[in-house]
Amino acid sequence: MRLPALTIFLTALLIPAILHAQSKSFKEQFIESYRNRDLKRLESLVVSHKDTLLSEAEALVEEALAKDKGFEERMFLLDIASSMVTMYRFRFKGGRDLLERINRIIRTESEKERKRLLEAMRWSREEEFLGNFVMRRYEKEMAERGLPPVIYPHWIHRIWFQCKVCHNKIFVMKRWVNEITQEKIEKGRLCGVCHNGKIAFDARSNCRRCHLAGRPEAERLREPERLDHEKVQKIARQLGAEWNYKKLPEGRIPRDRFGFIDWLELKRRGVFKPIPSLEGKDEEGIRDNKILFITKGKSVQNVLFDHKIHSSWIRCSVCHPLIFKDKLGENDIWMKDMARGQFCGHCHGKVSFTFADCMRCHSQPRDTIPPGVLVHRPKRKGG
Ligand code: HEC
Ligand code: HEC
Ligand code: HEC
Ligand code: HEC
Ligand code: HEC
Ligand code: HEC
Repeated sequence: MRLPALTIFLTALLIPAILHAQSKSFKEQFIESYRNRDLKRLESLVVSHKDTLLSEAEALVEEALAKDKGFEERMFLLDIASSMVTMYRFRFKGGRDLLERINRIIRTESEKERKRLLEAMRWSREEEFLGNFVMRRYEKEMAERGLPPVIYPHWIHRIWFQCKVCHNKIFVMKRWVNEITQEKIEKGRLCGVCHNGKIAFDARSNCRRCHLAGRPEAERLREPERLDHEKVQKIARQLGAEWNYKKLPEGRIPRDRFGFIDWLELKRRGVFKPIPSLEGKDEEGIRDNKILFITKGKSVQNVLFDHKIHSSWIRCSVCHPLIFKDKLGENDIWMKDMARGQFCGHCHGKVSFTFADCMRCHSQPRDTIPPGVLVHRPKRKGG
């Protein structure tokens, strides 16, 4: 009784598979055999598709060059096309021009990729210093004017301005989204709010003071040791900020063990006092409390989040509600999300100290709760 039922069932399952195998295109069959290194089958495919093979190969080249293809996939398809035509030539002669064309494309595509990687590496060097951005959304337009991309030295601006001055008033706190064009700047928006010849050098001239990525002059921007302290102090005074460089420990800007500027040390020593707004007044309050995160992981210490430090520099509306819900215990924070730029990772690892510095956040012993802190307890699973 059971056997026939099973057979019918199995046959029913197989029918679509059989039909599918028959309906597989030449391309699919060729790729499959190529992957399996099944030379015999490849050979018979080439023979049975003698008349259409060259146009199939051309279509494959078209497909490979489509805009949506990544480098890997493009090279794979070109490789298949090249193999098709090579086998065809071996068997029937002919197809020489096409093969040469394909191999030429493979060479140029590899060269393009090599250049792209070199280019990306070049800019990553400029961005090595935490918070320096190479702005090159309009790379083509800049190149047409003979200008390299812009370097925005985030850290230099932090000396004079609290985050509040710019975020999210002048710039949204996210790269690539502000659509900064020269026209907007010259009309007094974005960088032009300050770079108008009054607050800072004028962007209607001085092109190369901003457009300098990849130039030797740009090196200075990743070397705090080369900061011209007197000039920075003069600018600070004009703005109503402070740069008391005489208070620097041993005359040097303090760095953490990863080489990044230790801003809190600068603050503790009274070296700098950035302004909260261009008008000089702080328009927003400060949230003066500390939140202890009891960590979900048993292997790490608890995290202490200082609302006061954060809200004295950063507007409430930057964090709430976009990055964090403003309810104690409501945010389920995981390191893997942070690594993708969520939660604390919105700033840490980008413009503030890096993730590798675990202990700077995980600084609190697991068995004690410091007095006066709010406690964020991990939610129970499923709750
Ligand atoms: C003088 C203006 C200015 C100040 C002050 C400033 N920023 Fe920015 N910030 C920018 C600009 C410009 C960008 C890039 C925007 C773009 O590319 O569209 C940016 C981008 C960012 C980003 C996005 C990084 C990314 O990878 O997406 C973060 C985070 C950030 N800033 C945090 C801060 C913090 C924290 C402070 C204060 C300690 C601060 N900023 C102070 C101008 C400023
Ligand atoms: C809130 C005001 C403000 C905004 C907004 C601002 N800057 Fe600046 N920037 C300054 C000040 C002040 C200086 C120093 C004054 C000077 O050198 O004239 C400066 C200096 C610079 C320097 C020179 C640093 C050096 O040491 O050589 C560069 C480069 C620069 N800004 C780029 C930019 C770019 C690019 C933008 C927009 C993405 C921008 N700035 C937005 C205020 C601002
Ligand atoms: C204060 C810094 C600053 C100065 C000075 C400056 N630029 Fe720019 N410029 C920028 C930024 C930032 C961008 C946006 C870059 C991007 O994201 O691709 C930009 C983009 C451009 C672009 C491409 C986008 C567009 O609008 O077509 C051109 C062209 C350009 N700048 C030309 C100039 C010229 C010419 C000068 C001198 C007269 C100049 N810039 C001076 C900061 C500056
Ligand atoms: C910018 C601050 C910060 C830094 C730096 C940081 N953490 Fe965390 N970490 C947190 C916060 C906040 C939580 C969330 C607390 C909770 O609910 O468990 C957390 C949670 C964790 C957890 C438990 C949840 C999970 O994602 O597994 C582990 C494990 C952890 N961190 C390990 C590390 C290690 C290892 C490093 C260094 C490589 C590190 N953290 C660096 C802030 C930080
Ligand atoms: C750097 C980001 C950041 C800034 C800026 C910030 N907060 Fe928060 N806020 C947090 C985090 C993180 C929590 C904890 C959420 C949790 O427990 O899940 C929190 C919690 C809260 C809470 C609930 C706990 C409490 O303190 O009672 C309130 C209310 C709140 N924030 C208000 C504010 C206000 C008002 C400001 C501005 C004066 C502000 N926050 C600025 C990150 C920030
Ligand atoms: C909007 C940006 C932003 C977000 C989001 C943010 N931070 Fe920060 N954090 C800063 C800045 C700016 C500083 C000042 C130090 C610096 O820039 O290196 C700082 C400093 C700190 C410090 C050093 C304070 C001290 O006393 O040494 C700790 C610890 C810290 N953050 C933890 C966290 C944790 C935990 C979270 C997430 C719950 C978080 N931060 C989210 C910007 C941010």
